[in-house]
Order: sequence, then C-alpha cells, then structure tokens
Amino acid sequence: MLKEILIQGQKTADAALERLLPAGTEYPSSIHQAMRHSVFAGGKRLRPILCMEAARMIAGSLPDGVDELGAAIEMLHTYSLVHDDLPALDNDDLRRGRPTCHKAFGEATAILAGDALQTQAYEVMAHLKCPAEARVQIIAEMAHSTGTIDGMIGGQVVDLESEHVRPDLHTLEYIHRAKTGALIVASLLVGCYYAGAKPTEIQRVREFGRASGLAFQIADDILDVTQTSEQLGKTAGKDVTAEKVTYPALFGLERASAMADELIRNACSALDSFGSRAGTLKEIARYLVERNK
Ligand code: IPE
Ligand code: IPE
Ligand code: MG
Ligand code: MG
Ligand code: MG
Repeated sequence: MLKEILIQGQKTADAALERLLPAGTEYPSSIHQAMRHSVFAGGKRLRPILCMEAARMIAGSLPDGVDELGAAIEMLHTYSLVHDDLPALDNDDLRRGRPTCHKAFGEATAILAGDALQTQAYEVMAHLKCPAEARVQIIAEMAHSTGTIDGMIGGQVVDLESEHVRPDLHTLEYIHRAKTGALIVASLLVGCYYAGAKPTEIQRVREFGRASGLAFQIADDILDVTQTSEQLGKTAGKDVTAEKVTYPALFGLERASAMADELIRNACSALDSFGSRAGTLKEIARYLVERNK
C-alpha cells in the first residue's frame, strides 16, 4: 500500500540521515545543529523514496546501501530549501513547520549550513557501496542536476529574475523543470545507476521523471494557493505576494490541476513496459499531485 511505502521510505531515509550527518554535539556544534534543524523537521523524503523505489524496480529488491544515496539526495534538497528561504531569495520564516534556518541560527550560519549539507552529500556519495563506475556516474548526475545548466541553481536564478514579470509559458516551464524537475529526474536516475540499469530502462525512467517532476512543481504552486501555512508547514500564499511565475498565475487553478494530472498519466505510461514492477512508482507519481502538503 502506498501509505506504508511512504512511511517506511521516510523511516529508512531518516535513519540513514541520522547516521550520516555529524552529531549536533560535534565541534563546531552551531553548524551541525543548524544542519540538523533543517533536515529533521518532517520533510516528506520524496526524493530518497523515488530513488530507492527506482532502484527496487530495476533490481527486483532494495539494493544494499541505496538508503545512503537517498540520504545524500535529501541533504542536497534540504540545502536548496535552506538557501531558497534566505532573505535574499524567497525571504521565508517558516519551513517544515519550524522557523527557517536563518530565523533560528542567523543568516551567516544558514548560508554555511546549506553549503555544508552540500559538501556532506558529496562525501557520502564518494563512499557509496556500488561499483566505482556507477559511483562516478551518480556524482556527475547529482552535480549536473543541481547546477546552472538546466539544473536547480539555474532554475532558481530564472525564478528570482522573473518575479514581478508577466509570466510566459516558455520561461515558466524552464523554471519548473530546472529548479525542481531536474533533481527529481536525477533522484530516479541515480537509483537506476546504483541498481545497474540498462540504457533502455534509464531512458524510460528519465521520461517518467521529466513528466512527474514538472507535475510536482505545478502541484507545489497549487498548494501555495489552496492550503494554509499550518497545513503546509511553510508560508502559504507567498507566490502571489512575491508575484512569482506559477502555473495557477498563468492558467488558473483548474487548468493547472488538469495539466498536472495529464503529465502524471504520461509519466505512468512511460513505465508501462516494466509491467507490475512499476506499480509503486506509478502510485507515488499520482501522490505527487494528489498530496495536500
Ligand atoms: C519543496 O519540496 C520544495 C520544492 C521543490 C517545491 P517538498 O514539497 O518535497 O518539501 P519537503 O522536503 O517535503 O519539505
Ligand atoms: C523551490 O521552489 C525550489 C527549490 C529549488 C528549493 P519554491 O520556492 O516554490 O519552494 P517552496 O514553496 O518555498 O518550498
Ligand atoms: Mg523559491
Ligand atoms: Mg520558496
Ligand atoms: Mg512553492
């Protein structure tokens, strides 16, 4: 059942993060406490779950040590959130139901905590228990997907540069694919590399990830409008206030939601040739747009 998979995946990711992050008591403790403050605040852990389930689909069972790859991905994702919330970016006070990192620890420590989560992720990936060739491929994929060319940072740049600008679909799709979609695609692909997937399998998973990654950010934009801050654990209504380029802003809620659904249908059909092995990833894809937080 989907709910059990999500809960179990969250537990597995949390346990790996607990092992792989420095203790809060380790010197210099302020930075380690700041990293832990943002990581252990009730994230959904969807990217580690996508990574682990992609690996399970390819290998037939969960490969040993893939939880550590999931933890590294979650560190990179959390770094992106810590920096996204900074006053110079989205200037948010609330994240994962807690004060944002810079609210709790000050801006300098929050900037460094984001940086430190990133370097810790690469240290973890350098020690993954998979063949060296796959390890290098995984590190390259994660670096590229969070970088400036069609990656997370590139998307964040265009997101910020497009505030207060009349939205056009081309720019909007670029922002969403880059700032959010790229890391979701990469989470799935590195799970496949870890499990030793064949090139044809990788191509199909990439198609699945591209469609569901875009749909995920459309859902995030919709939730920003339809949910409360309490429900989301982050400030609702921020996109309108900041005049962000979003799908609801461009198409309205109803069409945006229909577009997300259509993307998920396309995503799922990309996995049809995997047969029943793809059942879990397809269920998770539907959850990406049906979630309420
Ligand atoms: C939020 O991601 C940031 C986006 C890329 C939209 P999630 O909705 O996965 O946030 P957490 O990890 O559960 O807090
Ligand atoms: C963030 O997009 C994408 C990231 C790379 C972190 P948003 O700015 O919409 O994410 P939230 O809504 O603050 O989580
Ligand atoms: Mg943002
Ligand atoms: Mg934000
Ligand atoms: Mg958002």
